[in-house]
Amino acid sequence: LVSFSRDPGDGDMPQPGSLEHYGDGLLWLKGQHIHAVGHFSELSLSLPEGIPVYDYRDKLIMPGFIDTHVHYVQLDIMASYGRQLLDWLNDYTFPEECRFANHAHAEALSNAFLDEMLRAGTTTAQVFGSSHPVSVDAFFSACKSRQLRMLVGKVLMDRNAPDALLDGATGIADTERLIADWHGKQRLGYSVTPRFAPTSTKIQMDAAGALLRNEPTLWLQTHLAENSGELDWVAELFPGSRDYLSVYEDAGLVGPRSTFAHGIHLNNDMRKRLAERGANIAFCPSSNLFLGSGLFDRAAAKQTGMAFTFASDIGAGTDLSGFGTLKAAYQVGQLGGQPLTAWQGFYGLTMGNAKALSLDNHIGQLAPSLEADFVVIDPQATSLLSRRISHCTTLGERLFALMMLADDRAIYETWAGGRCQHRRDRSQ
Ligand code: GUN
Ligand code: FE
Repeated sequence: LVSFSRDPGDGDMPQPGSLEHYGDGLLWLKGQHIHAVGHFSELSLSLPEGIPVYDYRDKLIMPGFIDTHVHYVQLDIMASYGRQLLDWLNDYTFPEECRFANHAHAEALSNAFLDEMLRAGTTTAQVFGSSHPVSVDAFFSACKSRQLRMLVGKVLMDRNAPDALLDGATGIADTERLIADWHGKQRLGYSVTPRFAPTSTKIQMDAAGALLRNEPTLWLQTHLAENSGELDWVAELFPGSRDYLSVYEDAGLVGPRSTFAHGIHLNNDMRKRLAERGANIAFCPSSNLFLGSGLFDRAAAKQTGMAFTFASDIGAGTDLSGFGTLKAAYQVGQLGGQPLTAWQGFYGLTMGNAKALSLDNHIGQLAPSLEADFVVIDPQATSLLSRRISHCTTLGERLFALMMLADDRAIYETWAGGRCQHRRDRSQ
C-alpha cells in the first residue's frame, strides 16, 4: 500500500511523514468506507471471523486517481488532427457537442466514458458536460447508479458558438434546476461551468458568480490562458479588463472551489492573485502538447504559492490514464528544466487533487473513515514493465517506472464506494 497524507516536497526524497508505505499492507473495508489500514501481520489479528480476504501479493494499492478537468462529451473527438485551440473548437468540438441534445446519446457516452475512466484507475473527476442540461442529467444518473464521487456541470455559453449550442437566458435557470436535482445528493457535486470568457456575456458570468455567492458549496470550473490566440481575443472582447484573470474576478468566479484549466500564459501577479483566493490551475500536459498550447511553468506556480492539479482534459488530451498524464507532465517539466518526481506526481494524482478540490475529507488517501476508492496496480502487467521494475531497488524508482511506462493494462482492479468496479481481463 502507498498513500500520501501531505505534499512530499520537491526533493528526490519525500518529506518525512508525507507518505505511508506498507510492504505487507492490509486495507480493511466496511461498507463504502475504509475501516482500518495497517500491517497485515498486526491488523489481521483483529479481523472478524468469516470476513472475506483478498490476496494482492506483488500488487500495489493506491488511492483512486483523480482528474480535475475533463470533458466527457469529447470522448469521441480525441485525436482530431492538425488544429490549435480556437480552430479545434470550431472544426471538431462544437459540432460534436451538438450531439448531446439527445438523451440516448448522452446516456451511452456517459457510460462509455465512466467505463474508460475506471479502466484507467480514475475514480473521481471534475467534468464538463455540453450546454444541454440533458447531458448532465444523463451523466449524474450514470454516476449515481455506480455510486461514484463525481463533479460535473452544464456548459454555460451564450455567444460566439453555433446557435445549437447557445443557451441564452435559460442557461442559468437550467443550471439552478440541475443544482436542485443533483448537488450534494449521494456522492455527487455540481460545478458551475462557464466554458471560458469568449463564449459567455458579462451578464451570464455575473449570474454564474451570483449562484456561487448564494451556495458556497458549489464548485466552479472554466478555462484560463491556454492559447495565445485566445488571449488576444479576450483582450479584444474585454477592453476594460486589466488582464484575463480579472474578467473572472470581476464576475466573482475566483475562490477556493474554483478550477481554471491550463493557466499557461500567466504572469506572477495573476499567479499570486489565484493563490490568495485559494483557486487551483488544472495542469493538462497531454492536452497542452497535443494542441501546441505551451508549457505550464510548475516552478513559477510553486514560487508564487499557486496550487495546481493534474488533469487529462480529454478530448484535447491524448490519455485518460493518470500514468499518461504524469508521463506528459514529466516531459513538459524536462523541457523547462523542471523534472517531476514520482512522489510529486502520485501525491498530485491522489491527495493533492483531492485537497485542491476540497474533497480530502472524503477521498485521496487510504485512511480510516475515508471512502473506499482505490486502485490495485500490477507492476508485472507487461513484460517490459516487469523487466524494468525488476531492476528497481527503491519505491521511488518503482513509482517512476510506473509513471513513465504503465498504462491501463497495469490497472488490475479499480474499486469505488467499496465495490470492485473494474477488473482487468485476466487473460491478456
Ligand atoms: N477552451 C474553451 N473550451 C475548451 C475546450 O473544450 N477544451 C480546451 N482544451 N480548451 C477550451
Ligand atoms: Fe478543457
